[in-house]
Amino acid sequence: MTETMTARLDAPEIQQEVDSLLARMNLDQKIGQMTQGERAFVSPEDVRDYHLGSVLSGGGSCPGDNLPADWVAMNDAYWAASMAEEDDRLPIPLLYGVDAIHGNTNVRGATVFPHNIGLGAARDPDLLERIAQVTAREILATGVEWTFAPTLAVARDVRWGRTYESYSEDPGIVGAYAARFVAGLQDAPDEADVVACAKHWVGDGGTFAGIDQGDANVSREELERTHIAPYRDAIAEGVLTVMASLSSWNGKKCHGHRVLLTDVLKGELGFRGFVVSDWDGTDQLDPDYATAVELAVNAGVDMFMVPDKWKEFIGHLKSHVQRGAVPMERIDDAVRRILAVKFAYGLFDRPRPAERPWSNDPGFGSREHRDVAREAVRKSLVLLKNEGGVLPLDRAARILVAGKNADDRGHQCGGFTVAWQGTTGNAQIEGGTSIWEGIREASPGAVLSVDGAEAGAGDFDAAIVVIGERPYAEGMGDIRSAGATAVAPGSQIVLETANLEPYGSTLELAELHPEDLATIRTIAAEGIPVVAVLVSGRPLVVNRELESAAAFVAAWLPGSEGAGVADVLFGDHDFQGKLAFSWPGSPGDTVFPRGFGLTLSG
Ligand code: BGC
Repeated sequence: MTETMTARLDAPEIQQEVDSLLARMNLDQKIGQMTQGERAFVSPEDVRDYHLGSVLSGGGSCPGDNLPADWVAMNDAYWAASMAEEDDRLPIPLLYGVDAIHGNTNVRGATVFPHNIGLGAARDPDLLERIAQVTAREILATGVEWTFAPTLAVARDVRWGRTYESYSEDPGIVGAYAARFVAGLQDAPDEADVVACAKHWVGDGGTFAGIDQGDANVSREELERTHIAPYRDAIAEGVLTVMASLSSWNGKKCHGHRVLLTDVLKGELGFRGFVVSDWDGTDQLDPDYATAVELAVNAGVDMFMVPDKWKEFIGHLKSHVQRGAVPMERIDDAVRRILAVKFAYGLFDRPRPAERPWSNDPGFGSREHRDVAREAVRKSLVLLKNEGGVLPLDRAARILVAGKNADDRGHQCGGFTVAWQGTTGNAQIEGGTSIWEGIREASPGAVLSVDGAEAGAGDFDAAIVVIGERPYAEGMGDIRSAGATAVAPGSQIVLETANLEPYGSTLELAELHPEDLATIRTIAAEGIPVVAVLVSGRPLVVNRELESAAAFVAAWLPGSEGAGVADVLFGDHDFQGKLAFSWPGSPGDTVFPRGFGLTLSG
């Protein structure tokens, strides 16, 4: 529990192990520990020869047939290379990192939980801890031991493409979840634990106009109150790693921000684990890569996520140390932190991945795990309108199901599922149920007509129309007008994301996806009461859809267990979700405040 991990990091026996190992390491071995390459660019021989401390999978980067056994075999080979003792090599077990941010969702057949925005609406910290425990087991089933989660972003502008990774705009809700999620990942008994990573330090959710990797123009007090606060909870729980943010604070990139990384995070907040950089995050500090490396390491980054150019990174860091631009004490501090995390987690005592107790565990994607996800779906739904008590629906009623997101497991899972940007259709989300499949189970007579064209053909009592966004991740999900600058005037930082194609230029669903309103209207024109179910990574302006529908449910990005939606629509469970974000009407206007959410009784 709380003390365990923090106390373990500080425990004299661990510090002794760290010191004695560090004393035997040469500069190449130390720099190797600070280096994390991406699996597509790193062979086991590279791990052995360059003493790499870590390897990661970027979103959608998977070995073999992408089954748990393929992952175990991959990490086993990396681990064996990291433990080679030939030629006086020091064996130091490798730490493998993945983005298991809503389940271990790179992997085929994983249980996919609702994205964080839905969990924020569920307001259930106990559930969060159970989700983290199940996620940890599905990570361990693949022989992996580190996830880049939880995201502690407090999204303040829903135009941000990563809004769905945020539990809430309210730091209190994010903080209450932070500790429980970290506990669920790191503190499970029976070696069912993994290393957590709180991200992205700091202010990622507070950027100007919600631009990804943009600039948070906020005072120190506001940064503390809104964005730093949840990290205090995670650190109190002993979170072992923290990822730096690709964004800036008042014009200065977090990856090069010594005050934020060293003085505040490691000093004031007393964080004892290690800081990992984000994907190529160092590059943005200076056009000259060597200079960028120097700035980041001296600012306090301990491990470098350098997916493909890890050799270049190693070369630069070594020459900086040799010419004194990076002090040896900084290198030793970084390596000490990395080794302390490996010792505290017990990595040195665990057998090779293929022999670990949870590897290839048959619980991966099991009914038991999926039941937790289905419960999360039920609890995350927020009922915004229920005119004339159209909900709950009667299973025996004649029900039409429509909308482009009705039978699309890929869309309901959102980004960071199988592929970085997510997928479309049912084929790639193995297991689970689409929202339509769940409705059909509950009400076998229901009829699917995606565009609603069959509305006039049957004598329907009600229609469920599933509308909303298609998947996206990071800056590709931003809402911003073409040519909009990514930073506030005056900032010296020029961002690459400014060149990324955003999702759209408005939050208004009827503009982004006019087909949704058309489907609702086609059906409503037949006099059939419409229950609109919105699948989206953020609240959208839906005034016209709200007006045309009799009932309206925000389902967020529910994940693989779409059947949780039917559980509530047919009244087996009541709605309990409450908005964790205020809901926009016209710009600057709120139609539903944070905390809003109806139940079946009103
Ligand atoms: C994201 C991180 C993620 C990393 C590794 C980056 O693009 O910003 O959140 O952990 O990639 O996939």
